[in-house]
Amino acid sequence: MRSLRKTVVFGILASAVLVLALMHTWPTRAYTTIEVWQRPGLLAERTLEDRLPEPDPQLSTIPFRVRDSVAGLLAHNGCVCESKGVNLPFFQILSSRVLARPLHTAFKPAELEEVKRRRDKEFKNLQKRLQTSADVLIIAEANNPLQYPTQGVEVRPLKTIIIPGLALQDLPKDRHSINLTATLGTLNVAAEVDGVQIRGDGEMCMSLSSAALTKLNRQLQFVTYTNTLFHPNTADTVHLETEGHQANFIIKIRHNVTPKLYNTGTEEEYNISALVTIATKTFLRYDKLQNLIDSVRKYYPTVTIVIADDSQNPRSISGPYIEHYIMPFGKGWFAGRNLAVSQVTTKYVLWVDDDFIFTSKTKVEKLVDVLERTTLDLVGGVVREVTGYTTSYRQTISTEPGEEDGDCLHLRRGFYHVLQGFPNCVVTDGVVNFFLARTDKVQQVGFDPRLNRVGHLEFFIDGLGSLHVGSCDDVVVSHASKIKFPWASQSESDKAYAKFRYPPASSDVSQSKFGLLYFKNRFQCLTRGD
Ligand SMILES: *[C@@H]1O[C@H](CO)[C@@H](O)[C@H](O)[C@H]1NC(C)=O
Ligand SMILES: *[C@@H]1O[C@H](CO)[C@@H](O)[C@H](O)[C@H]1NC(C)=O
Repeated sequence: MRSLRKTVVFGILASAVLVLALMHTWPTRAYTTIEVWQRPGLLAERTLEDRLPEPDPQLSTIPFRVRDSVAGLLAHNGCVCESKGVNLPFFQILSSRVLARPLHTAFKPAELEEVKRRRDKEFKNLQKRLQTSADVLIIAEANNPLQYPTQGVEVRPLKTIIIPGLALQDLPKDRHSINLTATLGTLNVAAEVDGVQIRGDGEMCMSLSSAALTKLNRQLQFVTYTNTLFHPNTADTVHLETEGHQANFIIKIRHNVTPKLYNTGTEEEYNISALVTIATKTFLRYDKLQNLIDSVRKYYPTVTIVIADDSQNPRSISGPYIEHYIMPFGKGWFAGRNLAVSQVTTKYVLWVDDDFIFTSKTKVEKLVDVLERTTLDLVGGVVREVTGYTTSYRQTISTEPGEEDGDCLHLRRGFYHVLQGFPNCVVTDGVVNFFLARTDKVQQVGFDPRLNRVGHLEFFIDGLGSLHVGSCDDVVVSHASKIKFPWASQSESDKAYAKFRYPPASSDVSQSKFGLLYFKNRFQCLTRGD
């Protein structure tokens, strides 16, 4: 027993010695620990503000006249949640052109304070993750003898570049000197010029000085920046100083964004089967879905159709170029969209509802042409109802900054301008349920699975600022249902579907929708109108 204990103790000692020996002889790599929350770049922000030039006190005494027509366009502090137009309780929809809805009502008054606090905390963390020194206001001083790059300098993480464009302008002086300070990296020179004194090379703060300005300027051509604190996407503020003058400029630090390209073949004409996948979500309505598939096959016999299905008793849907994904029962509308889109491997995805019907006017090639020849990410078509009514459901989406209550979200019918080269197409922010999109962009924005029963524009709200959206009125798909006439008999599956899909407006479903706008998107108010 004792000998066993001895052996164990000896074993432990021996391995400890071995580890120590290894640590000593192993080529150790020094890993620095970086406080990624407290980015030095952001600390620079405060000091930067102190460096803003003092406003000339004389200026404040000079009077001015406000030009209301222009001053009114400026964002004011805090958006206001109010409807525009005559606001009579019973005729609201008829008389008011813009309806406003406060979103905090999605929560019970008792829990609202706590919800708001949590939202603030999450929002502050998000801002910390997103903001870099590149977001800081920098003002160039008047008559500054310093020359430097104002934008466009970029370095890969932990790599070195030559800072282009540094120079000092001639000012009569015995000795010329310049100091450079970085916060996320070090400064050095790639070559030395005789007659120039260099101090602090290889450090965050470097001084160069010379009696001859030309020599100093020659030396400035060889100044390098090396990023030392790894971050995949941030920016460093470099501070530049000579006697009596200072300047700041930004060096972006980021990995290259890896491209995701689709090899679409060599054909002269668009091969829709190779370029486009049709994606849809179905729930209970197998008769409608079969009509859709039949109509698609008439025009596009080899295009892949991806179907996400969360019916209770899923039926088998099979056939060539069909992928049928079965989901847990009632998983929901956006979850299904997400699943369907996640399985697409072609460059473009065409979203259709399961009760659409392709006709000779459903020319997908036209939508492909728009995306191939413009910078748009997504282009909508037109949905034609049984009644003959058509809609492209064009919406512009804008936000207005509010303070701690959140921002205001404004949805308006319409578009911005006609797309050059495509007289039938316009640029807008949101479109109808029938659209062709770049697959990778739709996957990036994603369909929030929390929107389980109603939802459509929420996708475009989430995509605001990243999706470039268009709408064309010459590509039309037919809608087999939707407008429900009370006298028309509904099939059993239609009835069951309607129960899920069209919950009463006051229900928990729309409450949770407003709750998402309030918390997830940090809005306080939604306004809709013409
Ligand atoms: C540059 O930095 C050195 C040391 O930090 C300082 O003594 C000198 O005054 C600075 N020069 C200028 C031009 O700011
Ligand atoms: C179009 O692409 C599909 C799928 O990549 C391929 O099977 C088909 O042969 C192509 N059609 C033509 C006309 O090249």
